[in-house]
Amino acid sequence: MARDVSRRGFLAGAGIAGLAATAAAAGLGGCAPAGRTNAPAGTTSAASTGSDLIAAASLNPQDYDYRQNTLGTKTLFSSWKLGSINLNHRMVKSAAGSATYLSGLGDELLQYYVNFAKGGVEMIWIEDLAALEPPMTGGPVSADTMEFGKKLVAECKKHGAHLGYQWALFPLKKVEDMTVDDILQAEARGVAVAQSCQQMGFEAIEINAAGFNQGEQFLSRFHNTRTDAYGAGSLENRARWVVECIQKIKQACGKDFTVQTLIDCIEENDNLTNDATLMTLDKDVTTPHNLVITIQEGIEFAKMFEAAGTDSMHLRLGPLGNHPCQFGSDLYFILNGIEGATGYGAQWDFTRHWQGQLIGNHSGAGMLLDIAKRYKDALKIPCGCVTYMDPAHAPDYFEQALEDGKADFFIMNRPLTVDTDYVNKLKDGRIDEIAPCTRCLHCHVGSNEMNRAMAYCRVNALTQRVMTKNGPATYELQPASSPKKVMVIGGGPGGMEAARIAAARGHHVTLYEKTGTLGGRLSFASAVKGPHENLDDLAAYLKKQLDLNGVEVVLNREVDSPFISQTAPDAVILAVGGSRTSLPLQGSGVKVVDFDSFMTTDMGDNVVVYGSNAQAFDCALWLTVHKKRVTIVTPDANGDLDKQQSQHAIRFMTTALYSLGVKVWPGSSIASISDGQITVTTDAGTTQVIACDAIVQGADLAANASLLDGISVAETFAIGDCKEPFNIALAIRAGNDAGRMV
Ligand SMILES: Cc1cc2nc3c(=O)[nH]c(=O)nc-3n(C[C@H](O)[C@H](O)[C@H](O)COP(=O)(O)O)c2cc1C
Repeated sequence: MARDVSRRGFLAGAGIAGLAATAAAAGLGGCAPAGRTNAPAGTTSAASTGSDLIAAASLNPQDYDYRQNTLGTKTLFSSWKLGSINLNHRMVKSAAGSATYLSGLGDELLQYYVNFAKGGVEMIWIEDLAALEPPMTGGPVSADTMEFGKKLVAECKKHGAHLGYQWALFPLKKVEDMTVDDILQAEARGVAVAQSCQQMGFEAIEINAAGFNQGEQFLSRFHNTRTDAYGAGSLENRARWVVECIQKIKQACGKDFTVQTLIDCIEENDNLTNDATLMTLDKDVTTPHNLVITIQEGIEFAKMFEAAGTDSMHLRLGPLGNHPCQFGSDLYFILNGIEGATGYGAQWDFTRHWQGQLIGNHSGAGMLLDIAKRYKDALKIPCGCVTYMDPAHAPDYFEQALEDGKADFFIMNRPLTVDTDYVNKLKDGRIDEIAPCTRCLHCHVGSNEMNRAMAYCRVNALTQRVMTKNGPATYELQPASSPKKVMVIGGGPGGMEAARIAAARGHHVTLYEKTGTLGGRLSFASAVKGPHENLDDLAAYLKKQLDLNGVEVVLNREVDSPFISQTAPDAVILAVGGSRTSLPLQGSGVKVVDFDSFMTTDMGDNVVVYGSNAQAFDCALWLTVHKKRVTIVTPDANGDLDKQQSQHAIRFMTTALYSLGVKVWPGSSIASISDGQITVTTDAGTTQVIACDAIVQGADLAANASLLDGISVAETFAIGDCKEPFNIALAIRAGNDAGRMV
């Protein structure tokens, strides 16, 4: 592994310098922050914080200077043992159901896992898939299921990967209502699942005793109010069900069958006002925060599990009632300027909550490492922790954590899903070829049809879609039968993805970009949203891909129809973005600000953002953090607000803005404007006068594909915002599809 400063390490620095430039351009003053800064990244510099920003911006100061790459990856790529399984590196694929819940046991699902194995992942945990387990009514799995399981194991093994199965029993009854017979039957279920998987060739089982799974319900006094031997009277009693599961599985499957136990290594309550459905199993909702599992309790449990025979611990955050943050706990950092936002619109103070033990200043990256160290110090078995464990993102930080004995292994999902070749690329030192996870959480689908339709990876256009049969039939790229001359117009994410795919298939691709840089609006988005979403990394990754795939890039060239005729391509892929519509406004006395200028325009105190797409919401947050009194006025219906973001991101954004006093008027229009105020017609048929010094034009973009009209080219495609303005994910998806179709 090269010891030079990586492109990513460089980018982090460049990003901060760039942000300082943005701030300077905005007239915000100050110099580039060194090390810790109170500034919400992308907005202003350390020197100018305080009076420029709302108080919430300084509660959990973020330090983005943790991404150096100077140490190499010696410990990351060192061998270790997970139970009886020998492994050569520390990156383990966690169980993660996505479209897998719905795809059935078919080739697409098989290929999904084989891709991880091909990419260098040696230990793959398969998520709880009802279809792979023995029927709940008893008896063995069907012959077809057994055959599928065996094939899955064998195909992954060909590439050197070992498979483990996560058993995540969802409680059918409240713990207090379970009879002892129910409890023993639940244990027997675990044994049956383990034995069935072992027959298929799986080498390990993980007992998911975290989140709202059965094991957690026993461990937690919040959920467990029994008074018997499985009750809350002692730590031993609380641990008994999981202990017995471990013992019985070991007894049935042999000591060499590896057992891993997943627990909430620390809990807090993150459900004061919403997600009532997740509370149905909860009783004592008045004082839940006093009954959460502490680090000390968790360590005592882990010692009992170790004594019972578990081979390793998987440690996860346990925010009760906020399921997305049980696995994507970096969602707490999604809001630029109010990092640490809870699911109910307040903020965690990381020095006080979570026993003050979370690493809360690196955007969520490795946030559990210090807690994992405490578990590791108390145990002999390997301990790993999960969530934003991404060595390619911050190589030294994660290498040092292993060297310092904070964890034995890293449990990873999204980074590996975004780029299944992650491990191999990292091993080869091709860190700048790794597609970054941009932490949007669009990938989380849950388990119903509606969610499935909403689920996609923002960066990897194939990962869920191949399985759900809504997209390409295969992960493989079909080489072009006859190479064509392909013109891609526009260097945003959609255009770059189209060029990458078309060129990878063997076409001769030239990408024309009218400005002097590639990336489209990614750098603007990054400045507004801050570094958490790694959008600068996304742009850098796509640029690198153009290089690697031999795409000719022509900058500062605006393409028109005569140029297209003159160039005579076989195919044109138009990716020029949408066009902004301007508001038909009656009156004067209020400044009207272009969306692109909201960070650099002096606007007075009272600002109306017109529009409610994701960009308008991001803008509203940025302005609010910068002490503006923001009101959103939008023609969109209440149910459509911020709809381009994932359901999880929306929840954080809307609760936080609400708690900060931002009012949204959905289904509304601006009837008139006059000095310092506007009059709004609301969806209730009333009028509302709002103090307003400036209106930011954040209305939805309009399609912008007229360049294709009347050109004579055999194949034409309009993709992304110029066809149907929506979001980065759908632009990349359309680019991927066009690149495959051409
Ligand atoms: C789409 C999706 C589905 C998931 N499903 C499961 C699951 O079935 N079981 C589980 O224990 N964790 C599940 N998780 C959590 C992941 O295993 C992992 O903890 C989480 O993605 C954080 O790791 P990362 O930051 O590397 O992505 C899921 C996460 C995602 C994003």
